[in-house]
Amino acid sequence: MAIFGSNKFPVKDKLVLVTGASQGLGYALSQKLYEQGASVILIARNKTKLSSNVDQIINSTPNASSSQFVEYISADLTIYEENIKILNYLKSKDYHPDILFCLAGSSHPGFFMELTPDELSQGIDINYKTALYFIHALSKYFVHSKTKSQKHIVLCSSTVAFYQFTGYIQYSPMKTAIKALGDTLRQELKPYGVKVSTLFPGNFARKAHRRKPYKTSNYPVHRRRIPANHCGSVC
Ligand SMILES: NC(=O)c1ccc[n+]([C@@H]2O[C@H](COP(=O)([O-])OP(=O)(O)OC[C@H]3O[C@@H](n4cnc5c(N)ncnc54)[C@H](OP(=O)(O)O)[C@@H]3O)[C@@H](O)[C@H]2O)c1
Repeated sequence: MAIFGSNKFPVKDKLVLVTGASQGLGYALSQKLYEQGASVILIARNKTKLSSNVDQIINSTPNASSSQFVEYISADLTIYEENIKILNYLKSKDYHPDILFCLAGSSHPGFFMELTPDELSQGIDINYKTALYFIHALSKYFVHSKTKSQKHIVLCSSTVAFYQFTGYIQYSPMKTAIKALGDTLRQELKPYGVKVSTLFPGNFARKAHRRKPYKTSNYPVHRRRIPANHCGSVC
């Protein structure tokens, strides 16, 4: 989190919830947060990956403080009730998060006329509803919680929010919606002292990136991608 030489985003002793933490950027960022002294709750659907990520984070940070913890919650954030389960879990443990990182999301490249209704719908669910429902379900508890530190919500859009291009029509309009969500929440939550930021990463490498959107001979494609853990450090 070092930007321009000094740490503008201290996370030591904070409780951070990270969605999309079963792989890619969410996992890489969770690791960095724990390394830097935060307690972290990883959220995604895949229990096996989440559980293994928790073990790896703990094992790779032997000098963590005794007050730090790392846990996971398995939930499908596109289902509102599953977000309420997360809320109830936080209440039952008397956990008061300081920071929410909403990183769940992924693209399914394809041309508009070739995408199925299900694929279009998943684009909306995975890239927009995961953030919308998660923040909404936790919002009252989060803004009124006892924690005295600066509360912060971080959304994850993409550079495609500013530059839409062929092959990503299932995904990029939702990343523009995430930008709009962040811009509006920033105003609505300011009276509660909650900061809202939106990340706009460029292309980075992660395991799920397998499907080619279109014939690469016809269109220019970026081939140099930074790894997700490098992207996590920059965030
Ligand atoms: N990769 C890039 O080049 C790039 C560029 C710009 C922006 N971004 C954005 O950065 C973020 C992370 O990208 P990534 O490439 O690291 O993603 P990724 O590897 O595809 O991982 C997506 C994460 O979202 C979780 N997720 C998906 N659907 C979910 C649901 N219904 N409920 C809960 N969790 C769900 C997945 O976990 P489960 O499957 O276990 O639920 C997984 O942990 C995304 O928002 C992405 O749009 C990526």
